[in-house]
Amino acid sequence: MLPLLLLSLLSKSAALNLTVSSSGGNTSSTLQYGLLFEDIYHSGDGGLYGEMIRNRAFQGSSVDGVVSLDRTTDFWTEVGGVTLSVDTETTPLSSSLPAQLRMEVPEDTTTAVGFYNDGFWGFDVDASQRYIASMYVYGNYTGDVTCYFYSTTSDTILGSTTISLDQTESDGWVQTYSPTFYPTTTASNANNTFYFVFEDGAQLAGESLYFNVLSVFKQTYNNRANGLRTDMAEAVAALGTKYIRLPGGNNMEGLYAPYYWKWNETLGSLTERPGRPGTWGDYNTDGFGLIEMMLMADDMGLEVILGVWAGLYLDGTVVAEADLQPYVDSVMDELEFLLGDSSTTYGAQREALGYGAFTINYIEIGNEDYLNGGTTSYDDYRFTAFYDAIHATYPDISLISTINPSPVTTDGSPVDLHLYGDADYFVTLFNAFDQASRSYPVFVNEYAATNTGSNSASQIGAQTLSMACAEAVFLLGCERNSDVVVGSAYGALIKNYNEAPDTVAVIKQTASEVLYSMSFYVQQLFAANMGSSTLPVTATDGELAPVYWSATTNTSHTILKLVNYDGETGADSAVSVTLEGSSADTATLISFSAPEADSINNLAALGGETSSVTTTALQGEAGVFTVEFSSAYEILILVA
Ligand SMILES: *[C@@H]1O[C@H](CO)[C@@H](O)[C@H](O)[C@H]1NC(C)=O
Ligand SMILES: *[C@@H]1O[C@H](CO)[C@@H](O)[C@H](O)[C@H]1NC(C)=O
Ligand SMILES: *[C@@H]1O[C@H](CO)[C@@H](O)[C@H](O)[C@H]1NC(C)=O
Ligand SMILES: *[C@@H]1O[C@H](CO)[C@@H](O)[C@H](O)[C@H]1NC(C)=O
Ligand SMILES: *[C@@H]1O[C@H](CO)[C@@H](O)[C@H](O)[C@H]1NC(C)=O
Ligand SMILES: *[C@@H]1O[C@H](CO)[C@@H](O)[C@H](O)[C@H]1NC(C)=O
Repeated sequence: MLPLLLLSLLSKSAALNLTVSSSGGNTSSTLQYGLLFEDIYHSGDGGLYGEMIRNRAFQGSSVDGVVSLDRTTDFWTEVGGVTLSVDTETTPLSSSLPAQLRMEVPEDTTTAVGFYNDGFWGFDVDASQRYIASMYVYGNYTGDVTCYFYSTTSDTILGSTTISLDQTESDGWVQTYSPTFYPTTTASNANNTFYFVFEDGAQLAGESLYFNVLSVFKQTYNNRANGLRTDMAEAVAALGTKYIRLPGGNNMEGLYAPYYWKWNETLGSLTERPGRPGTWGDYNTDGFGLIEMMLMADDMGLEVILGVWAGLYLDGTVVAEADLQPYVDSVMDELEFLLGDSSTTYGAQREALGYGAFTINYIEIGNEDYLNGGTTSYDDYRFTAFYDAIHATYPDISLISTINPSPVTTDGSPVDLHLYGDADYFVTLFNAFDQASRSYPVFVNEYAATNTGSNSASQIGAQTLSMACAEAVFLLGCERNSDVVVGSAYGALIKNYNEAPDTVAVIKQTASEVLYSMSFYVQQLFAANMGSSTLPVTATDGELAPVYWSATTNTSHTILKLVNYDGETGADSAVSVTLEGSSADTATLISFSAPEADSINNLAALGGETSSVTTTALQGEAGVFTVEFSSAYEILILVA
């Protein structure tokens, strides 16, 4: 018994003892904590973007995750014996949407006819929410079109609305909207389809009708037209971050020529948006275009880091120096569109669409331009071509290099580092920026621990508690160096659970659910508890690892973050915290943890959330507090 007693006495005196200075730190970036948005695995179409119909305009397709320009009737199924096909013979709706759905009705038809859509892995049907359906039609039909949700689980109609059509071919293409409607029943799951049914099938016997931009929206975030899926937007806003980088990411770059993300083809009427083959295996409708992204940033109070394409396609094709000018001009046009007043060509175009000027203080020139042999051309001419043109007209915009060091070495030229690796690697990054030059601000505009320290084979499906804690250790390092590390953003922000269950994201969605990962809560807590300057922390007893720390102050409060990474728990291993110059007797202690190192947050039916955040009041004395971990992997935030 004696040795055990001795041991516990010894460990008491050997525990970590931290003193947080009351001054002597550096001013922190006001942008600490950000987001990367790009359409990856249905984070735009079928994700944030509110459109519920999949393949609404027959723009392209994806089979087995390979994007193609093939126009198909995928995700559509006929009703009443009609034949559905993609037609390119009839007068098209627009030059941007040259293909339409043809519904051929057999001669002997006497019953209702039509088709239904599968949605993006189903539809969310919620009786408390308002919906609206719409479509463009070409042809002859006078009568009712019943539009309704159908549950394939209960084999029942869950709510419907009626469009009354009265048109002939001579009217050309006509867009019609349904009255808004509330479903009569909330679906028990996402296994629902959406029908368009022409009640007077006999009238159509032997004829064809043509369709394009078939659409269903549920009421959107902030009730914007062509807006965002509410639960998804609320999840993004709830992260409480300061900036968003858009529109990418590898998706901006394009797989091959000429399909980089073109700002001018994502604007205005949906009929004028051709879409493009996305980088991540599916065709992008571009319904969630430049304006929609900028409005989202405005609605959420986010500073925008505008990504502009810098002449590198992902297949390694690089635009030659002699051919680069039109792409530079296009970026200047985009900036005039976003920032110019109505006396400018593109500013006037924006005004005509009904929007005032936006604000851009940061532009990232390209994305990962070191990929596939891009480095030399980026260093030699690509970066400077864009930099010089933008800087000459907009000297106050900060221009970020995607390669470190930046080809432009003027003090203050920022770089964006992308960091991926296993959990143990993220823990080693705690010190990564301590010796960094203070002359070149750093963004980490993509990072993620993609597997646990013991499993570096491949990405795992969801972030475990230990992975999230490893990311937290890395973020402590960013915070401690927040005079030079401007901010960080996890890659990817959103992935559709049905499509990408096996790779990491902050948020994953099904048609009817939003899954908040462990990393979500880490970022949310860190963003909500960030001061305006750092504070020096000294360990008078004990040392770094397995407990890691960072302190900041927001002038009225000291915020100390502690991360236990496979460490001890309980009173014997408590951390003694002395807040220099403080007489506080109470503090707020926020804890984030989960039962096991490999606990994950999952969809409700698969176990739900295992992580929890608790907030308690902690008693101390004259600025001295004893902080105990209750879990080997845990984040504690002390605010006093
Ligand atoms: C922690 O360190 C401070 C400063 O050296 C000292 O005054 C205090 O007694 C120590 N606390 C514990 C619990 O060891
Ligand atoms: C402040 O920044 C300097 C580098 O300029 C660094 O050496 C120092 O550790 C920082 N102080 C704190 C408290 O982070
Ligand atoms: C519409 O009706 C007119 C007159 O009967 C006919 O000529 C035309 O082919 C019909 N259009 C379609 C698309 O079936
Ligand atoms: C929904 O449909 C899918 C695919 O048909 C099926 O695997 C799943 O079990 C269904 N879910 C429910 C809750 O009915
Ligand atoms: C958009 O801009 C690109 C680059 O300047 C140009 O090639 C393309 O034709 C433009 N698209 C439209 C619809 O004007
Ligand atoms: C500082 O943080 C505390 C605790 O989160 C908060 O109550 C207070 O309003 C913040 N003060 C400032 C100036 O931001």
